[in-house]
Amino acid sequence: MEVCFIEEIFIDNSREIKGAEGDMEEEELEQILDKYRAAGKILVEVREAALELVKEGESLLKVAEFVEGEIRAKGGEPAFPCNIARNEEAAHATPSIDDTTVFSADDVVKIDIGVHIDGYIADSAVTVDLSGEYGALVRASETALNEALKIIRDGVTTIEIGEVIEYTIKDYGYKPVVNLSGHGLLRYNAHAPPTIPNVRYAQGVILKTNDVIAIEPFATDGGGKVVESGNAEIYSLIKEKPVRLREARKMLDEIKKYRGLPFARRWLPQERLNLALRSLKNAGVLRDYPVLKEEEKGMVSQAEHTVIIKEDGCEIITAGNQN
Ligand code: CO
Repeated sequence: MEVCFIEEIFIDNSREIKGAEGDMEEEELEQILDKYRAAGKILVEVREAALELVKEGESLLKVAEFVEGEIRAKGGEPAFPCNIARNEEAAHATPSIDDTTVFSADDVVKIDIGVHIDGYIADSAVTVDLSGEYGALVRASETALNEALKIIRDGVTTIEIGEVIEYTIKDYGYKPVVNLSGHGLLRYNAHAPPTIPNVRYAQGVILKTNDVIAIEPFATDGGGKVVESGNAEIYSLIKEKPVRLREARKMLDEIKKYRGLPFARRWLPQERLNLALRSLKNAGVLRDYPVLKEEEKGMVSQAEHTVIIKEDGCEIITAGNQN
């Protein structure tokens, strides 16, 4: 998840992209990359198991809780709540604590999973077409991802990646979602620069060996843009500030343990939760993530992998056996 709106795209253009954490010893760098890899390994196992559960009649809440529980059981932590977006929903959807929604036979389901080990994040998403009618739409985002992965290497620009994604999706007769993008990954930061656009932009940045990035094309048969809608179930800490309300102070203590990563409402103590979250949001301590839906209610597919950039290619840390 942690896709971002396109107005943020130019912010990081002047940034000199460095390795995962800037200049550091070879050994230290390898230790960090191994944590990304370990997070990726857990993610792949959990993703494969979760896909078995995505069936007509199954509860969304059960799938989300299964994913998050399995991540913890395997020694990782969720880097964000398990996102389950259906049909025109593209991102930032996760079940509420008392959600009774079940998958229906005509759902197009996006499962987006994040795992971190010591703050080092792997992020991956897949689309499951329960309807059996959107195979081409699913392939459009999958092929766009694969085509982008083929050109990724030290020195590739985000312009080239955006171009490959855009043209691949258009070749299928669909539109890329222009205001969602891939992103860099840094320690406890699932929304790091650079932005990896899903369309060709005139400006971009050059990727370097050992940068860790998530590529996530979205394809749609709608207008090609998402808008915020509905209530938010996902939040993250922006900036710790003193708050007066006792409930808000208590809740902030709970929230701090996520170290700035997105968390779900349902992960928190439920007593006076609405009051506490509203107060923290109004104080500028929290941001929320309303569900992002396709503006024309178009169907949306998504595919995502996390990669480590290498001299002559990339290492896909979230690739399963079948990839
Ligand atoms: Co992502």
